[in-house]
Amino acid sequence: MAHLVSSTSCSLKISTTNKAFPQRSGHGPTAFPSSWGLQSSRIPYESLVSRREKHQRNFIVQSTAVPLNQQVPTQAGSSSYQHSNGSTKMQRVMIIGGDGYCGWATALHLSNKGYQVAIVDSLVRRLFDHQLGLDSLTPIASIHNRLRRWKSITGKNIELYIGDICDFEFLAESFNSFEPDAVVHFGEQRSAPYSMIDRSRAVFTQHNNVIGTLNVLFAIKEFREECHLVKLGTMGEYGTPNIDIEEGYITITHNGRTDTLPYPKQASSFYHLSKVHDSHNIAFTCKAWGIRATDLNQGVVYGVRTDETELHEELNNRFDYDGVFGTALNRFCVQAAVGHPLTVYGKGGQTRGYLDIRDTVQCVELAIANPANPGEFRVFNQFTEQFSVNQLAALVTKAGAKLGLDVQTTNVPNPRVEAEEHYYNAKHTKLIDLGLQPHLLSDSLLDSLLNFAIKYEDRIDKKQIMPSISWKKIGVKPKTVVA
Ligand SMILES: NC(=O)c1ccc[n+]([C@@H]2O[C@H](COP(=O)([O-])OP(=O)(O)OC[C@H]3O[C@@H](n4cnc5c(N)ncnc54)[C@H](O)[C@@H]3O)[C@@H](O)[C@H]2O)c1
Repeated sequence: MAHLVSSTSCSLKISTTNKAFPQRSGHGPTAFPSSWGLQSSRIPYESLVSRREKHQRNFIVQSTAVPLNQQVPTQAGSSSYQHSNGSTKMQRVMIIGGDGYCGWATALHLSNKGYQVAIVDSLVRRLFDHQLGLDSLTPIASIHNRLRRWKSITGKNIELYIGDICDFEFLAESFNSFEPDAVVHFGEQRSAPYSMIDRSRAVFTQHNNVIGTLNVLFAIKEFREECHLVKLGTMGEYGTPNIDIEEGYITITHNGRTDTLPYPKQASSFYHLSKVHDSHNIAFTCKAWGIRATDLNQGVVYGVRTDETELHEELNNRFDYDGVFGTALNRFCVQAAVGHPLTVYGKGGQTRGYLDIRDTVQCVELAIANPANPGEFRVFNQFTEQFSVNQLAALVTKAGAKLGLDVQTTNVPNPRVEAEEHYYNAKHTKLIDLGLQPHLLSDSLLDSLLNFAIKYEDRIDKKQIMPSISWKKIGVKPKTVVA
């Protein structure tokens, strides 16, 4: 199977090598290809890797900076639990994909709340940017510098395991070393357009996502059977049916018989299809092996700041605005800031669930604090409000006017195959019942997002704004995306 390897600057090349990340013998999954150009850390990688100590902690990167005694307010949470012998233990949470947009914010939030956190990440997301010639609007520090800064500010240590979860040996060692009580799995290729670039990216997406999740399920079965899996799914798994969308299951009466069944899935890209397959694999293993799992069918996330990332520039989260990884509202704010018309795809009636990144971290914490039972496959729809693309464009236009921006909108041909006018009413009460207090989209949030985009205006590459990937034109020829 073709995998992606690092290449130079803007071009994206596909190699036929069968290892995405060549490993040097004796170094296991920590060894990086020498051509990996994304490491901004100036400290040699090897010096950060503590050698095989007891408990096989041979590829943990510890942050080493000196505490600056700046304290982060910590609220009481459920970060500890009572052991059967009466002692209290801190919950250990492994965050797969913890260097990414949702994962980074969640890792800091849980660390701040007193959970013992480890990040597992292959850093492949940084490689995608490099290969496609994209960059986050916000400058983001290397994962090593991020963790050192977090430790220096809070005194809290987040362990780091760098490797690919499709490599079971790596994942198994990470599990046995960290011994998680909960695993939050964000670690997938998460862009629908990316999965529709060409055959190779479609195959990569499904292999990376489906096999990665399958490995996590096997690791739980084999090494940590009590561990609660919190898996990030997507509202996109349901598609846009002409009936209300339930939370995971629907009760149907057919020919006089009634059953509660998984809600039908109608995914609309190879990425979304990978999530559907993940859900089926998880549901099956809950039934067959008694795994406890929560599938968080997340809506589109917006925003960049959380209480923790605001503490220092080196803790900045990423902010994608390009046509491949940028989500709708984030893209519109950047477009408004640079005077580019807001790019509404097709008629703009496409309606989806949305949530603030501050609610993503809350939802994950709630799921961990209230775990599924053994054998239970629980599904929560994780969003707080629904908007059509036209409604989002109108909100950004209004907020822009308040800041003196003349915001225009343009309808561009829709690169996707999707309904542009449709019924949409998705249920989302289960997380609210657990205590979610939503940050609804407000004028002040839009102001702050727009101001953020204005602050980093000189980092915006206008060539990345227009969509360049077409659902219908996908082919087998490896495609180099150039501006
Ligand atoms: N961002 C959204 O709006 C949104 C909406 C719905 C669902 N989700 C889901 O939430 C999760 C996180 O999304 P995000 O926006 O933070 O994505 P992201 O691309 O910013 O982060 C994903 C992280 O996972 C890592 N990763 C990918 N494959 C890996 C592998 N095989 N082994 C180890 N690490 C790997 C990447 O390097 C990256 O750091 C994804 O599963 C995504 O499908 C996101």
